[in-house]
Amino acid sequence: MADEVRSLVTKSGGVAISAPSMREVPLESNAAALAFAADLLAGRYDVVVFLTGVGTRHLFAAMETRSERAALVAALAKTTIVARGPKPLRALRELGIEHVITVPEPNTWHEVVATVQKRATGASLAGTRIAIQEYGATNDALVEALRGAGASVETIPVYRWALPDDCWPLASAIREIIARTADVVLFTSATQVHNVMRLAAERGLADDLHEAFAEVLVASIGPVCSEALAEHDVQVDLEPTRAKVGVLVREAADCAATMVTAKRAALHAGRVRATERDRRGGPSLDDCAFLRACRREPVDYTPVWLMRQAGRYMQEYREVRARVSFMELCKRPELAAEVAVTAQERIGADAAILFSDILLIVEPMGLGLEYTRGEGPRIGRIVHTAADVDRLRPVEPEDSLSFVFEAVRATRRALASSVPLLGFSGAPFTLASYILEGGGSRNYVATKRFMYSDEGAWNAMMALIADAVGSYLRLQIEAGCQAVQLFDSWVGCLAPEDYERYVLPHTRRAIAALPAEVPVIHFGTETATLLDLQAAAGGSVLGVDHRVPIAEVARRHPDLAIQGNLDPTVLFTDRGVIREHVARLLDQVGQRPGHIFNLGHGILPATPVDNVIALVDAVHEMSEALRGGHG
Ligand code: CP3
Repeated sequence: MADEVRSLVTKSGGVAISAPSMREVPLESNAAALAFAADLLAGRYDVVVFLTGVGTRHLFAAMETRSERAALVAALAKTTIVARGPKPLRALRELGIEHVITVPEPNTWHEVVATVQKRATGASLAGTRIAIQEYGATNDALVEALRGAGASVETIPVYRWALPDDCWPLASAIREIIARTADVVLFTSATQVHNVMRLAAERGLADDLHEAFAEVLVASIGPVCSEALAEHDVQVDLEPTRAKVGVLVREAADCAATMVTAKRAALHAGRVRATERDRRGGPSLDDCAFLRACRREPVDYTPVWLMRQAGRYMQEYREVRARVSFMELCKRPELAAEVAVTAQERIGADAAILFSDILLIVEPMGLGLEYTRGEGPRIGRIVHTAADVDRLRPVEPEDSLSFVFEAVRATRRALASSVPLLGFSGAPFTLASYILEGGGSRNYVATKRFMYSDEGAWNAMMALIADAVGSYLRLQIEAGCQAVQLFDSWVGCLAPEDYERYVLPHTRRAIAALPAEVPVIHFGTETATLLDLQAAAGGSVLGVDHRVPIAEVARRHPDLAIQGNLDPTVLFTDRGVIREHVARLLDQVGQRPGHIFNLGHGILPATPVDNVIALVDAVHEMSEALRGGHG
């Protein structure tokens, strides 16, 4: 009905986001049900627990594709049959099954355990063989309690409907709800509810989704669907006067604006939920290996993340890029979040980096920006003269880059709560080089000519950029980043005295705008001769490329944490070579607190993803072993 609902929503003046949430599972392909039937007929169970009505009916329908109902009922009669409540009881009665013990109210797992235990001889369930029909997720508490009492327990997962083969659209719809880009959520079946909640749980988004439901209008087609929502502790705001999608959409449209405003007002009055801080700001995040290393505190293992870890080397990223342009991806917070989180989870990095680009900040300066296939980024209106500098617009990131802060919030919500999120920006010099060259450059002729010949205009431009960078990073931190990195990727083309004169004051100004307690990683490439000056410009972590001897840098800067610096091309070899390089690097840095493992520069597009995973694993294992954690 997706098309019908979509057009109803559009007619009511809304914008529809829709995603398939279920796929029918053929009865005969329910292997768990068929295996259960065989065991039941062979007399292998003492107790069978039925948890849900729908599941019970579906289990029998699946078993009856192979066995006679009469035989199944007879085999069941030899066991103790337990129904969790009136619904499975009714389903069992319909199937002609008698002598069912019903678990008393409120039918939680505690009562289930008590009921099973009462039936057993003595207090222990030792040797009792129990099968549990389940629907949706396994009830771990129930299974553990029964096992704890000595029983052997098997669960029979039965599904009438499974999640779609491709869960991406549903996951991104969930993220839109969480990002509050949706104001109304319409549920039209109970299974849909279960599947949405299940996927949210699998992606670690259950808490966030619950919070979002408190701020949007939740409408349910009818009582069965509402009951499913209640099972998941979701409050239903609206059930239509008749259980028809047309009525559902119309009535939701009528009250949406008032209802959403009222719910949000109630929340902000603090009546409904705990604050974001209580939920997220717990000790685990602040105490994670990455942030500890940034503060040069001891860690159990060396944290690792990789510059450009969300990018073309990863299949998942290429799939997203096949559908949207790079720029669109950066500007759609929920997609950006999905990409950043997928990369972090896939490779097991100790930090996620915001999905964005260093150049987005030049757009609001009025310069135009384009990403062309093959050529990389292109700036539309290059700065050539002092007059061009005068025409640059100061950036007010709150408005012009609001999508970036939305992306920070969406990513923070989507990330595991113990994984830190890094914000970033280009550093003033690297941004200036793009603004003056129009794109990447080999010799930076335009940049240096401008810098050397009109120092006043250069300083004016650098100050404008530095202010923009400072407030841009500060707002990323306020939106939820735990640390930030300043990429001065191209500053290595300068001599130290030029850096000191033309760059240092501006970079210092940008960094000084940030809260002192938040780690700032100051990164550059080919900066062997600039490191002392970069350190002087600011940042509590110095990011170095693979051309510098990291141990020496670490010794020279005992008051800074160091990030780096495996040559990215090592990832084109194999696991053995990668491990050798990791071992060598860890050995060079030694036990010094304050090392964050990274590449010397961004990961290259053709890098095999398995090697990246092998690298992350190697860093974790070997650094832990070095600290005496394991052998
Ligand atoms: O995982 C991450 O680190 C994602 C966020 C990120 C991107 N770019 C995404 C991106 C970060 C931190 C950057 C930084 C960046 N962007 C730098 C500094 C890092 C460095 O390598 O020194 C620079 C110089 C840029 C500018 C830029 N953006 C270039 C030169 C290019 C084209 C070349 C290339 O590597 O693709 C981009 C595009 C870009 N930025 C892509 C990504 C994933 C590729 C876009 C695509 O999908 O085609």
